[in-house]
Amino acid sequence: MRGPRGGFRAILPRMSPPVLRFVLGRQPQTLANVPPDRTLLNVLRDDLHCTAVKEGCASGDCGACTVALAERGSDGQLSYRAINSCIRLAHSVQGMAVFTAADIAGADGTLHPAQRAMVECHGSQCGFCTPGFVMSLFALHLQRDGAAVSRDEALHALSGNLCRCTGYRPILDAAQTMHHWPDVPLDEAALLQKLELLAPDGRAPEADSAENFYATPRTLAELLALRAAHPRALLAAGTTDVGLWVTKQHQRFAQIIDLTRVAELRRIERAGDTLRIGAAATLVDAFAALAQDRPQLAPFLDRFAGLPVRVSGTLGGNVANGSPIGDSMPLLIALGATLVLASTRGERSLPIADFYLAYRKTALAPDEVLARIDVPLPTPHEWLRADKISKRLEDDISAVCLAVALQIDGGVIRSARIGAGGVAAVPARAIQTEAALAGKPATQAVFDAAATVLAAEFEPIGDMRASSAYRRTVLGNLLRRAWAQSQPGAATLATLQPETLP
Ligand SMILES: Cc1cc2nc3c(=O)[nH]c(=O)nc-3n(C[C@H](O)[C@H](O)[C@H](O)COP(=O)(O)OP(=O)(O)OC[C@H]3O[C@@H](n4cnc5c(N)ncnc54)[C@H](O)[C@@H]3O)c2cc1C
Ligand code: FES
Ligand code: FES
Repeated sequence: MRGPRGGFRAILPRMSPPVLRFVLGRQPQTLANVPPDRTLLNVLRDDLHCTAVKEGCASGDCGACTVALAERGSDGQLSYRAINSCIRLAHSVQGMAVFTAADIAGADGTLHPAQRAMVECHGSQCGFCTPGFVMSLFALHLQRDGAAVSRDEALHALSGNLCRCTGYRPILDAAQTMHHWPDVPLDEAALLQKLELLAPDGRAPEADSAENFYATPRTLAELLALRAAHPRALLAAGTTDVGLWVTKQHQRFAQIIDLTRVAELRRIERAGDTLRIGAAATLVDAFAALAQDRPQLAPFLDRFAGLPVRVSGTLGGNVANGSPIGDSMPLLIALGATLVLASTRGERSLPIADFYLAYRKTALAPDEVLARIDVPLPTPHEWLRADKISKRLEDDISAVCLAVALQIDGGVIRSARIGAGGVAAVPARAIQTEAALAGKPATQAVFDAAATVLAAEFEPIGDMRASSAYRRTVLGNLLRRAWAQSQPGAATLATLQPETLP
């Protein structure tokens, strides 16, 4: 469309005013004047006085604030996931249904199977963590259509919930027995009807102020026009990083562009020899696509945060945030991924390793967004390992992360690409170590020599997670371990049974 000066006037999408509409349990809610950066937890507890949802850490670490979200997909079906309400922005649930532990029992008081099983298995002592556990179990129960759940599935679903007093055995028992109790089914047809009434055309209502907005563009063109018009607005995806800037650093954001509803950015597709991952694809979806082509990555990817963070957080958010201890970037560097950056000026691509300029400084221009991450599909000669060292197995940030991709043909390492995290101001490529491997036979001696090079290649800082010396040593050892674990018959944590441990 032509603007007044003859240039192209951006077609700006509608922005949501400070009115927030969603369903809480069975009740539609309309809340006026909700600031763009208000968290869902604060809306639930402070504005709606729903104290069944608890605040523990306010940083996505403990799961006390877990609620379940129901969202209508493009197929018209409802999907359910458990998320951390403390780091979720309230406007992001516009048009969705939110369930807390106060909303899931039957109208006659019958406890939901997730609640009943926790009672019967003595899964609660002080009770502070219990509403969060119950909501993770509630989402799992719905995802499984009320079927039995294995211990592994329960561990996976509860990976974002901490309990400091009961201990996990009774809680895992509850997860595995909840299918025995009478169900309290959701009336999905009634819920869909209520969601429909909230936003009949699926759009947020018109903005009344450009100073103070929470915008939810639906297409890439809308997003880019908004970005060009508001280069200082905060881009928000799953807010698993951004949420902490609000709750822990007390930063305020008056203008927010939420890019999670942009159809092109949520898409994951294979084109030729490339896996194209839209920047707003959730971590669970992006990781599932990566592990489909490279199943050996699954144990590494499962250690990224806990499930509630992975169902909210996006791959684009991890990459764009540019933390030197982010886990996906070393892997994407090793895989030779390319980033596609988009603006109203057009698109440009650059190798991910070139995206990081300095500590938390990237090549993204103020009017650009990260649109896509393109990952080459594996070749028949690919040898790939990724590992991270953290203080806990799951739901913990890396002290050190290493991803190694080699092309091995005829017993010779034809080429090497290595990504490392936690060892420099940016996610880094280990160029010297790559050179120490390329062209050499794939033998233990070569890996040992390369591990020595790797341990000396960076000068990591020491901090609360690890000392500098520890990081160097561990980095070299991760390369040795990668080699050892690739040998026939090698034991891994996944294959070691308790009785074989010393
Ligand atoms: C409890 C917990 C555990 C965690 N564990 C891990 C872990 O194990 N490993 C790890 O690497 N990280 C971890 N994180 C960090 C976080 O979950 C990831 O970085 C996540 O991928 C961020 O994605 P997001 O969608 O939530 O980003 P957001 O928080 O929404 O955004 C992060 C940054 O990226 C920008 N951004 C987002 N999308 C785009 C885009 N498309 N274009 C341009 N800019 C964009 C935002 O403006 C913001 O600056 C953890 C976080 C928590 C709370
Ligand atoms: S309060 Fe701890 S995860 Fe939200
Ligand atoms: S019952 Fe007390 S923290 Fe879990």
